[in-house]
Amino acid sequence: MKRILDNLHVDVLAAVLMVAMIATGYILRFPLPPGSNKALSLWGLTRHQWGAVHFWISLGLLVLVVVHVCLHWQWIVVTVKRRLGRTTSPSKSSYISGLLTASVLLAVLALFGWAAQTSVKPITESIAGVCPPEYAADQTGPIASAETAPASNQQVAFWSDVYPIFEKSCLHCHGPSKQVGGFRVDRKEDFFAGTTPWVVPGSSKDSPLIVILSGERKDMARADVHRLANEQLTLVRAWIDAGAKWPDRPAN
Ligand code: HEC
Repeated sequence: MKRILDNLHVDVLAAVLMVAMIATGYILRFPLPPGSNKALSLWGLTRHQWGAVHFWISLGLLVLVVVHVCLHWQWIVVTVKRRLGRTTSPSKSSYISGLLTASVLLAVLALFGWAAQTSVKPITESIAGVCPPEYAADQTGPIASAETAPASNQQVAFWSDVYPIFEKSCLHCHGPSKQVGGFRVDRKEDFFAGTTPWVVPGSSKDSPLIVILSGERKDMARADVHRLANEQLTLVRAWIDAGAKWPDRPAN
């Protein structure tokens, strides 16, 4: 019988695919471990894409193994029969045994596929614990954190959030060494005293300080140095809206 596929070719190809399967399996286990899908890539492919490559290589290898078994079927049948003590010629019965074996295997696989398809469940609290958090993160994306929450919802602490802004951006002109306009940022009463105080606790929109720090007031010298970055301005605003509390400075 002239064979279309040579055993040697099949086996060489199977060996190549097996090495490729091991290599891509290694990629999925070590350089791109579970949970790294959103963060890492290797040679232009993500973990997800490498998973697909690994799958198709493995499937190709499986097909070659089946071809290999088919090419050797006659030998397999003779060997099994000899072990069972029967030595009749296998010429006709080999087709029947081949069909029988293949249909049993297919039936088992179909049963398994059906069982797997119908048993898929969403992860519940009780079994979520066995799944490392990075697996969950793979599906749900980054979990919202305090850093991504809108600034208006933030708890603003004067000495840790607001004063450092004054200290860094204002103190050298409005501090102990220089008091431009007689105003000092390190003196509480300079913010709240006078007939029109710079800060109206509870209302950032009525506070003249915000007009200066947002860069809206143009009729003053050095208006440019008073304009704060948006996130700094948001913090100062939130501090004023929350009552502009200025507690005693904590001892460091
Ligand atoms: C480079 C120096 C400089 C820096 C830095 C600076 N200022 Fe000023 N500031 C001035 C000058 C100059 C004036 C006077 C403007 C005028 O009178 O026309 C002024 C005026 C003011 C006034 C009004 C004072 C008044 O009596 O009219 C306030 C309030 C003020 N600054 C707050 C701040 C705050 C808050 C910061 C930090 C975000 C700051 N300044 C940073 C130079 C500075």
